[in-house]
Amino acid sequence: MARYKIGLGVTGGIAAYKAVEVMRQLQKAGCEVRVAMTRHATEFVRPLTFRALTDSHVIVDDYDPENPDPIAHINFSQGIDLLLIVPATANIIAKFASGVADDFLTSTYLASMAPVLIAPAMNTTMWEQPATQRNIAQLRSDGVKFVEPVVGELACKTVGTGKLEDVENIVRQALDLLSARGTTSTDLAGERFLITVGGTREAIDPVRFISNHSSGKMGFAMAEAAAARGADVTVVAGVTSVEPPNSVKVIRAVSAADMHKAVMDELPNATVFVGAAAVADYAPANAADAKIKKDGRDTLTLELKKTPDILGEVASKRHGRLIVVGFAAETNDVVEFARSKLEKKKLDIVVANDVSKPGAGFNADTNIVSILTASDTEDFPVMPKRVVADRVCDAIKRFRGELK
Ligand code: PMT
Repeated sequence: MARYKIGLGVTGGIAAYKAVEVMRQLQKAGCEVRVAMTRHATEFVRPLTFRALTDSHVIVDDYDPENPDPIAHINFSQGIDLLLIVPATANIIAKFASGVADDFLTSTYLASMAPVLIAPAMNTTMWEQPATQRNIAQLRSDGVKFVEPVVGELACKTVGTGKLEDVENIVRQALDLLSARGTTSTDLAGERFLITVGGTREAIDPVRFISNHSSGKMGFAMAEAAAARGADVTVVAGVTSVEPPNSVKVIRAVSAADMHKAVMDELPNATVFVGAAAVADYAPANAADAKIKKDGRDTLTLELKKTPDILGEVASKRHGRLIVVGFAAETNDVVEFARSKLEKKKLDIVVANDVSKPGAGFNADTNIVSILTASDTEDFPVMPKRVVADRVCDAIKRFRGELK
């Protein structure tokens, strides 16, 4: 089931071809996309391109005898979670601002209750015209959001503001807007999630420790997504720099040993375990009781011992219908290493992230993941962690369906 339905409006500018890539990335992020085009947009990209890739009729003119839906502007506009316009010309911005409804896209804008996100692209002079800026100000005060155009070389060979923002940023802002609005589906009702979150701290002495950069953003996003979809959620949180969502039970744990104990105590009650925490693999073998003095020492050797493998133990003690999901933080050969973790630890699902990539891994608001099961690998583009969490919940839901 698609998590979000997006109405993509394409208008007549040279950047119209980029709307195809926006559509593809939204589809990869799990969205269902329906496309509407203005007549002039079809001069730049054929409706057939979008029809082939969305498998549905692309509406240009709702009076067209080939249009299968006689009241398309109402049905289209009321079935979407977001109306996204890429690229938006000065003309469509002016029409939206003044309420003109003389074609399918403008009628859809008026008939829709969904949030609207507009990515303009035009010549700098047109962008800077007081009329265009007035229309934009009007739309902003009507609640419309914009993906600002950037400075760059334009089709007319001039350099200035008016270039369509990068496809990745348009997609990210669309997904951010959708995830901020949340979802009303309760397809995980009845599931009890146990999720580890954040980093652990392994004491060297009372004032020093070994830790990592985990902020807790990914794990808390998992907790929020599962709770929003009706699951009962318990989080075992190590050290985090962000606040947990309100709707979940939080048990705090500092070290890997604390986290291990809390997880084992809670496990009998769980139906889904998700290991999103960055648990230290090693801890000092003998933490000092008093602060270690540095006087007279040029080097300090610490002996480290392995911490309990929480995820491995959960998988090996798997009870009943427990689904076990691990994360894999890798810096190279990400999918290969993640698949070997899935097989060695007998996990049901692994979420692999390349923590060396910008926009992914530790402390970022976004992540770039592949979701692996024994039979499948799904690769996703950069997405807000909350959207990644929804994709992981989708995989859990599908896996539960296959267990039946
Ligand atoms: O918290 P953020 O700043 O948002 O960052 C998110 C994240 C990068 C921490 C997250 O996306 C992530 O990848 N979490 C797993 C990090 C990790 O420790 O990966 P790993 O490949 O070393 O471990 C594999 C799995 O074993 C993980 O599910 C981990 O929770 C688990 N593990 C590891 C060691 C251990 N002793 N016990 C465990 O349960």
